[in-house]
This record gives sequence, C-alpha cells and structure tokens, in this order.
Amino acid sequence: MPRTFVSRQIFPEYIKSIQDNTEAEIWEDELPPSREVLLEKVRGIDGLLCLLTDQIDAELMDTAGPQLKVISQIAVGYNNIDIPEATKRGIPVGYTPDVLTQTTADATLALMLAAGRRITESERAVRDGNWRTWHPLHFLGQDLYDATVGIIGMGRIGLEVAKRCLGFDANILYYDVAQRKDLESDYPLKFVDLDTIFRESDFVSIHTVLDETTHHLINAEALSKMKNNSILVNAARGPIVDHKALYNALSQGEIAGAGLDVTDPEPIPLDDPLLTLDNCVIVPHIASASVKTRYEMSRISATNLLNGIKGEKLLTCVNPEVYE
Ligand code: DGY
Repeated sequence: MPRTFVSRQIFPEYIKSIQDNTEAEIWEDELPPSREVLLEKVRGIDGLLCLLTDQIDAELMDTAGPQLKVISQIAVGYNNIDIPEATKRGIPVGYTPDVLTQTTADATLALMLAAGRRITESERAVRDGNWRTWHPLHFLGQDLYDATVGIIGMGRIGLEVAKRCLGFDANILYYDVAQRKDLESDYPLKFVDLDTIFRESDFVSIHTVLDETTHHLINAEALSKMKNNSILVNAARGPIVDHKALYNALSQGEIAGAGLDVTDPEPIPLDDPLLTLDNCVIVPHIASASVKTRYEMSRISATNLLNGIKGEKLLTCVNPEVYE
C-alpha cells in the first residue's frame, strides 16, 4: 500500500477513503505538527495532504524522498509551498479553487459590513452594559450602499465580491496586474491604478495573492492616501498588510476601520496592538469556513491525493506543466 500523511483532520468520509486506499497516518491534534515532527512524518511517504500552516519546501521534499508523488493542499492559496521546487521534481501540487469562491466572497461582505457599521464594537457595548439609550450620534458607521469599493485583485473571489457590492449600488474600481476587459463588458467595473484605488475608495478589499510584489502592499504610504472614512478589508493573506502601519492609521483616524480575516502572524499574538482597537474587526481566518465549502475542500483535496498516488491527473493542479 502507498503511504500517506494527512496533516490535519478533514471530513471523516474523506479520511476514510484515504485510509481505505493507502497506509495513512492522520495528524489528530488541533494544532499543526511542529516542523521537526512534520519532517519525521513525511519520511518515505508517497503522498501528502497539507494545509497552509505547513511549510512545504525543498528540505521537506528531500526528507520525504524521491518516491513522493503528490502534494495535495486543502486551500486555494499555496504560498506555503515551493511550487518551482515541486515542479522541478515532477510532483503535482493539488489545491482547492472555485469551491470556496462564493463562501469567501460572502465572508468579505460580512467584514465590510461589520467594520463599516461597527457591528462587533457595538455588540461589545451591549454586553458590557453600555447600551444606555438610543442616541442620534452613537455608533455612526459607513454605508456600503452607494459607496466606492476598490478591489485589489480581480480574480474569482474579487469578482464575486464586486457582484455582491453591485447589489448595494456601489461603484466598483479595481486594480489587477492586467485589465480584465473580458469582464468589463458584463459588469460595470472600472480599471484604475493603485493610487486611485487608495484615494477614491470608501472600502478597499484585498483579493490578491501574496508574493514579493504584494508583501506589505498596504503600508504607511498607501494608508496615508486612503480616505478618513474608508474601511480596509483583508481576506487574502496577512502579510499583504503592514500591521504596524495599519495600527497607526486606525488609531490616528487616517482610516475609519478594518476587517481582517487574516493576520501576520497567525494566530495574531494576544499582545498585538491591533487587538486594542475598537475599529478593527479580526476573525480567525474563517472566510472559507462554511460546512458545505469545507466539505467540498475535503473532497477535492482527498481526491487529488488519491489521484496523484495512482499517477492520475489531479482534479485541480497548481503546476499542470508536470504532465507535459
Ligand atoms: C485558502 O484556501 O487559501 C484560504 O486562505 C483558506 O480557505
């Protein structure tokens, strides 16, 4: 039987199908295996099912050995995996695009509204006994209705966020590495440069990948260009935002609020100053966390793992050039 390591629990039926078809070791802990343990566990395996919290690099692939046939990530993002290294070795890398697009877009809207309308802050006030009366000037927030929404990264998720915002009669600006003329005939989207996104948007929503060009894309300079009423939402990757600069911008009123699904690092340390701010909504990287979506992510990642072991094509492969 081929050997596999699954670095976290996924939906039980897919654990079972992996166990039925391979000699599988499943990591049962809630927390990820340490680097040392992960290296130990991958020694001699044929297939790995991993998460964005596992660093998958040349050292790990060397430790696993030349029989490693597939790396199957249960996420759409794969910045934790050295893709060129896997490709060099002819190892297909699976991922889980599409199935989480709508769920992540829904969560982005939840963050826009929560930060814009001060939902978590005012809910805390209720629980703390600070709801003393209805007051015309209490908890005034920012409308998404009729707002200008700037989307950075007009990929699958960015587009779904745009479509939802159009339902709020918002005006959509977007920036991407290339203009999406293919979409502009179907949707009222306006391609602009990043400067215009920062200067004109009431909501800035990040949906780009994390790489060397987007690391700290949202820094002090970018934040200083944003409107004082604006809300920043990040449901992509934490390191795209410079947290120190964000803290300064939020605490000095340079921008009105932020909604973060992702932080740098994750989990956010309890002494991070962002946690002291009422105008910063932070949730623990849950944008794809609906029952239906995580079930589908389990199905695709397990299928990719088993296909890869059999030498069959993956359902969704980051580096299909390995098949050429
Ligand atoms: C991903 O898939 O990359 C998300 O960050 C987790 O769903």
